[in-house]
Amino acid sequence: MSVIETQTIVNSQEKKLVAEIISNPNGTNMMLDDEITKVRARGVDVFYGAKQALFDVNIDIPKKSVTAFIGPSGCGKSTFLRCINRMNDTIDTCRVSGSILIDQNDVNSKSVDPVMLRASVGMVFQKPNPFPKSIFENVAYGPKIHGLAHKKSEYEEIVETSLRKAGLWEEVKDRLDSPGTGLSGGQQQRLVIARAIAVNPEIILMDEPCSALDPIATAKIEELIDELRENYCIIIVTHSMSQAARVSQQTAFFHMGKLVEAGPTETMFTNPKDTRTQDYITGRFG
Ligand SMILES: Nc1ncnc2c1ncn2[C@@H]1O[C@H](COP(=O)(O)OP(=O)(O)OP(=O)(O)O)[C@@H](O)[C@H]1O
Ligand SMILES: [Mg+2]
Repeated sequence: MSVIETQTIVNSQEKKLVAEIISNPNGTNMMLDDEITKVRARGVDVFYGAKQALFDVNIDIPKKSVTAFIGPSGCGKSTFLRCINRMNDTIDTCRVSGSILIDQNDVNSKSVDPVMLRASVGMVFQKPNPFPKSIFENVAYGPKIHGLAHKKSEYEEIVETSLRKAGLWEEVKDRLDSPGTGLSGGQQQRLVIARAIAVNPEIILMDEPCSALDPIATAKIEELIDELRENYCIIIVTHSMSQAARVSQQTAFFHMGKLVEAGPTETMFTNPKDTRTQDYITGRFG
């Protein structure tokens, strides 16, 4: 399907504000109501040079909820995540086509400033990546860049609120001037979540955020994700089936660059439609 055709379909759907079944050969719609859809991808293809990494991905991702992306290594989970905040723009060979709407706005439109987009679509990576700055500065950095505050007291408030939301305030409130890189791995991961939260994002993308953490730090991040879904649309990539089952309400299964199936997590794990999903979740491959 061409970009124009995809766009036409999306536009006509936008006019209907009621829930509607969208023609979707893969049956990958998770949510059918525009009122609750945060991210809508249609016909997304991604190439690295001549090699195609994603094929015609169609998915609706709901607001205020956690969606897990699962699938074997190399199937395109990170590639698709990076389409949502245009991080693929930073990869020279990468070419993305199709449409990705956030609240009806196409992220690839010329009018979208990728820097602003990345503030509203925060990203947390596998390896915690605090800046080589103090804990305070790590969180205050984004608000400074985006001019979200003016007075010192306003920055202090943003930093405290963000650290509280990230479940880290009590552990660091007496050492805000210490380097962020001096925290434990789990604390660093919560620090970068606080850093993402500080610029008022709507969506938080997490690419295997717990894979470098021990079980206790992992449990804390999972608890945090569960709290954050009250206010944010969260998408988490994970290789852990049990983590996907614990933290997400929707699960999407990718295989060899295709979105095979997506739906409520419980259904995906108990009654998947596709045998590839069944094989993957039961550990037969991947
Ligand atoms: N920067 C890049 N340049 C070229 N090819 C890439 C690049 N990033 C990813 N790819 C290729 O695109 C495909 C999808 O990769 P991607 O990293 O999205 O998979 P993934 O599902 O996130 O895997 P993993 O679970 O190992 O993180 C793979 O074939 C990969 O080799
Ligand atoms: Mg990946």
